[in-house]
Amino acid sequence: MANKEKIILTGDRPTGKLHVGHYVGSLKQRVELQNSGEYEKIYIMIADAQALTDNADHPEKIRNNIMEVALDYLSVGLDPEKSTLFIQSHVSELTELSFFYMNLVTVSRLQRNPTVKAEIQMRNFETSIPVGFFTYPVSQAADITAFLATTVPVGEDQMPMLEQTREIVHKFNSIYGETLVEPQILLPNNKACLRLPGIDGKAKMSKSLGNCIYLSESEEDVRKKIMSMFTDPGHIRVQDPGKLEGNTVFTYLDAFCKDDHFAEYLPEYANLDELKAHYTKGGLGDVKVKKFLNKVMQEELSPIRARRSEYEKNIGEVYEILREGSRKAKQAAAETVNKVKHAMRIDYFEDAVFLEEQKAKFL
Ligand code: TRP
Repeated sequence: MANKEKIILTGDRPTGKLHVGHYVGSLKQRVELQNSGEYEKIYIMIADAQALTDNADHPEKIRNNIMEVALDYLSVGLDPEKSTLFIQSHVSELTELSFFYMNLVTVSRLQRNPTVKAEIQMRNFETSIPVGFFTYPVSQAADITAFLATTVPVGEDQMPMLEQTREIVHKFNSIYGETLVEPQILLPNNKACLRLPGIDGKAKMSKSLGNCIYLSESEEDVRKKIMSMFTDPGHIRVQDPGKLEGNTVFTYLDAFCKDDHFAEYLPEYANLDELKAHYTKGGLGDVKVKKFLNKVMQEELSPIRARRSEYEKNIGEVYEILREGSRKAKQAAAETVNKVKHAMRIDYFEDAVFLEEQKAKFL
């Protein structure tokens, strides 16, 4: 392989503020990986160019969320000293790589990408898919390979993107020689974190459904949302047995709660299994469980809120972090573009052999 360093690249589309689903599904793990010290380089990208592939007519939506996402990143504990935070559209090398990779992917392969398929349906694009949107998996392969990333911590929905990236890398390397690195996906190991439902129990948290808890929300707003969470509609009186399946409060507890939380906030129970057992047997009310969840989540969210309010007072500093990160990312991607052009033998002006060949040919 061209490189043995452990390198992370990941990112998010800036189409809205990040919510607790993003947090347990990926952000939290990024911070742990960052702080593990095991990675030589970490790149975290605000994928504005990708967000524009289905928002061409709403550029202001993307523009308005650049700083929101940057603040979300910094407030969860991504540290600009350790992780390079950058804006995708400011690394033009990514589009250059995409253009070369497009020749390695067929239309039918893109049509089979399950994420693209689902997204086309969701957006009613069936008859009029923007070409840029259709090809975004190729651009995502460029994002990942530009940094020779070995590891891509993302949510489960990104699995097909990683699969496609690996295919592109494999094809590139087999045609042009070992140049690019095949990345591995890194999913959260807690199953409840793979896809956190909305507070209404719907499978996905989404802004349009109004069922998200945002990282930037106030303590009081989070509390209200938790108290209004969907539970078991059949669990009417406290003494009734309750169901855990599809019970959002318990799914959130699976994602957020640790044994220590019981000692601190609910010492009658040793752990989540005991709480669940009591709930299914009957005699445990939703309000009590929700109040506990609120304590658990506030403990996680309050340091995030505190860091956020510090950074909000220093937006100029955040702006400089993004500017400097984008500059560093561009430099790294440019090195890969040089390697790619060299492998493809289109680096004519760096290639003395090219001139000699041509001279001999026209002698
Ligand atoms: N597709 C990702 C999302 O929807 C964002 C993204 C773009 C990304 N390029 C990436 C994620 C490269 C990981 C690696 O949030």
